[in-house]
Amino acid sequence: MTSITIAAPDDWHVHLRDDHMLTAVAPFTANAFRYALVMPNLVPPITSTAMAEGYRARILAAAGPDARADFTPLMGLYLNDDLVIEDLMAGVAAGIVIAVKYYPAGATTNSEAGGASLIGYQGVLEAMAEAGIPLLVHAESTDPDIDIFDREAAFLDTELAPACDAVPGLTVTVEHLSTRAGLDFVAGRDGVGGSITPHHLTCDRSDVLANGLRPDLYCKPVINSRDERMALASAAMSGNPSFFIGTDSAPHPLSHKETGRAKPGIFNAPYALEVIAELFYENDALGQLEAFLSLNGPAHYGLAAAESTITLRREEPAEAPPEIVTIGDGVDVRIFGAEAAGCWTVS
Ligand code: NCD
Ligand code: ZN
Repeated sequence: MTSITIAAPDDWHVHLRDDHMLTAVAPFTANAFRYALVMPNLVPPITSTAMAEGYRARILAAAGPDARADFTPLMGLYLNDDLVIEDLMAGVAAGIVIAVKYYPAGATTNSEAGGASLIGYQGVLEAMAEAGIPLLVHAESTDPDIDIFDREAAFLDTELAPACDAVPGLTVTVEHLSTRAGLDFVAGRDGVGGSITPHHLTCDRSDVLANGLRPDLYCKPVINSRDERMALASAAMSGNPSFFIGTDSAPHPLSHKETGRAKPGIFNAPYALEVIAELFYENDALGQLEAFLSLNGPAHYGLAAAESTITLRREEPAEAPPEIVTIGDGVDVRIFGAEAAGCWTVS
């Protein structure tokens, strides 16, 4: 039997939603991760410290009885014209807010309130650089003339590179990397890190499209080619400190996924660790698992790694665990990664 003990992992990008969905999904994250960097794309978006504080309290109330003792939600504010620099500074000083998230308007779920141009927020970005507040970026162009598989590269060229050049010293996370262009951007710049999801590490577009259309694998940025996926997996397993986990766990009711226009977002929090452990195991890279799950992320954000640990054990594949979680009143959500989860126990 293979067994590995590592510092407790963090999730540097997760959607916990609100209300019934929050109640149903928060325990999966709280049971598995120490820190959870929670995305602010609620409706309406979390644009103020007061909203973040209220949301953090609702998350803690929903974490459930099996939550890790050190589970801590870290809050980001949504960057748009409603964000007030003084309020951001006060939220950071009070330890409520740790980052700011930029969504290009229209790029993904609940991004309608996002920005038209990143450099349009140069004043905010300068204040953030000065105060050491990281910028989290959904790096995807919304230009309809650009092919959907090329939109990460396009955004990096036309929006993020000019912003980074204009505001030196800004700490940036390129979230949910999906291409070699994204990996190269991150690797080539100081102060820029990149998160990678379990699904971008283990699936490519043939999985989405080749054997019956899979709306459960539809997310933004879209899962890209096999070559891109292999480059992402190599980066994650390299130990390079610029790359770390962000699950982008993003639950949607099945009725919003298996319908005429599927919503983007994959719910992977329940089995995220198992999926990544299985990838590293298959590639003989378990020696780098702790760096990717537990060390590189905190270092990027200037935080200490967890003192607590988890142990992952690989067993003979057992019966696969559930693929559906019921949110109540007949609403189901599909879970990513059940097959890998059948091979591992986490304690
Ligand atoms: C996310 C969601 O559903 O909130 N969807 C997704 O496809 N990843 C938003 C996001 O991070 O893009
Ligand atoms: Zn996301």
